[in-house]
Amino acid sequence: MVNVDNLIDLENGVQSKKVFWDQEVYDQEIERIFGRSWLFLTHESQIPEPGDFFTTFMGEDPVIVARQMDGTIKAFINSCTHRGNQICHADSGNTRSFNCSYHGWSFGIDGELAGVPLEAEVYFNKLDKAAHRLPEVTQVDNYRGFIFGCFDAEAPPLQEWLGEMAWYMDSWADTGGGAELIGTPMKTILKCNWKVPSENFIGDGYHVGWTHSAALQMIGGPLSALSGNGELPPMDDVGAQVTTRHGHGFGVIWELGHAIHRDPGDYIQFQQQTLPEVIEKKGEWRGKFYTGHWNSGLFPNCSFLYGTNTFKIWHPKGPHEIEVWTWTLVQKNMSPELKREIKKQAIQTFGTAGTLESDDGENMETCTRTNRGFQTRRGTMNASMGMEGDGRHPELPGVLGASFIGETSYRGFYRFWGEIMKAESWADIHKNDDTWVDNWLGKDAVSGMAARNIA
Ligand code: FES
Ligand SMILES: [Fe+2]
Repeated sequence: MVNVDNLIDLENGVQSKKVFWDQEVYDQEIERIFGRSWLFLTHESQIPEPGDFFTTFMGEDPVIVARQMDGTIKAFINSCTHRGNQICHADSGNTRSFNCSYHGWSFGIDGELAGVPLEAEVYFNKLDKAAHRLPEVTQVDNYRGFIFGCFDAEAPPLQEWLGEMAWYMDSWADTGGGAELIGTPMKTILKCNWKVPSENFIGDGYHVGWTHSAALQMIGGPLSALSGNGELPPMDDVGAQVTTRHGHGFGVIWELGHAIHRDPGDYIQFQQQTLPEVIEKKGEWRGKFYTGHWNSGLFPNCSFLYGTNTFKIWHPKGPHEIEVWTWTLVQKNMSPELKREIKKQAIQTFGTAGTLESDDGENMETCTRTNRGFQTRRGTMNASMGMEGDGRHPELPGVLGASFIGETSYRGFYRFWGEIMKAESWADIHKNDDTWVDNWLGKDAVSGMAARNIA
C-alpha cells in the first residue's frame, strides 16, 4: 500500500508530484477510489425508452447501462462471461439483447445469459446459465435524472454521498423543469492524469484570466475583464468557493452564469423568468447561486461548468492518460432554440476543439508529463491559496473560501482523496462524517474570512 501521508500535507495544502505519475498510486486509486465511490454513468435523458442502453466506464471497467422493460435502470460489466470479450461495442442504442461477437452467447437487457449456441450439442445442457449472467453493478441510483453507479455495497446511498453538494446543485437541478444532458458525448484523449482536470474544474479560478487570456478577449462579455489578470475587482465581492463532504466542491462567480455566452440575452431571460421559482422553492441563498457561474467537481472524476453548460467525465486510462467525454448541460424547460444555441456555445468553448478546452489541454498534459523525471517527482505542488480564509458560514453548508480565486476546493478534494485512499473500508470513512469540518477548521462555531465576507 502507498503511504498516503507521504503524498499529501493537509496542514500546508501541499501534494507530492508523485500523485500525478506513480503507477502504485494509480492502482490504489482504481481499487479504493473508483471501486468505492459513486461514479457518474449517464443521464436519464440519454436512455429514455425500455431497451435503451449506453456504454461507459467505471474507472477502467467497461459498463453497460440499460433501461429495463419495467423502466428501472441496471448496469453490468461489459465483458462476456465465456471468454471475456467485450459484449457491446456500440456507444448507445436500443436493443432486446446483447450478442457476443466471439462465440455468440447472448444476454438479455437484464444481464441474464439467454442463449448459448450449440448448448445441447457441446455443453450437453450442463452449463449453469444462471451462474453466467453479466455481473451487475452493486448499486445504481439517480439524483434528479443523473444516474450513478457504485461497486461497493457498503457505500452510503447516493443522496448521502452527494450530501450538501446536492443541496447546492438543487438550485438548478430541481428548478426550471430539472437539468438534462443533450447530445451524444464528444470524446477526446488527453495524455494527463485524471486528477489534473478534476482539480482544475473543482477549484481553479486562478488560471482563468491567464490561461484563457486570449480566448476571453475573443469571447468578450463581462469575463473579458479577467483577461491577463487585468482589471480585477475586489476578489471577496466576486464569488466564493465551496467544498462539501466526500471531496465535492465548486467555485462560483456571482451573477455571471451567462458570462461565456456570446449572445446571452435569451439565457438571461430564462434565468430571470425562473428565478422567482428558485427563490420560492429553495430560498434566497440558492437564488443567488442559481444566477452565478460555477466551476464544479463531483468526486472523483465528474466535472461541470454550470453557466457555461459543459458537463464532463474524465475516464482514467492508466496514470498518464484519460478519455474526456463532454455533454451539454441544460434545463429541461428551456426552449428548443435556446438549448440549440447553448449547445453550439458549449461546443465552441469546451467541445473537443473548443477555444477554452484547447487552452487547458496542453497545461494538463505537461502538468503530468514533467513528472516523468525522477528528480522532478521528488518535488511537491502547492494548493495553499487563501487557506486562512477557509471557514464555516452560518447559513451555508460545507467549508467555504471567501474569494472566487483560491484553492479551498482543491484542499477539500485532496482531503477526501487521502481519506478514502487510506481507509480499509467505508466503516473507516464514516468515522469522520461528523467531524470532518472540525478536523479541518477547529471547533469554532463560525470561523475564517468566509463567514465575514460572503454575504
Ligand atoms: S467470448 Fe463471448 S461467446 Fe465466447
Ligand atoms: Fe480552463
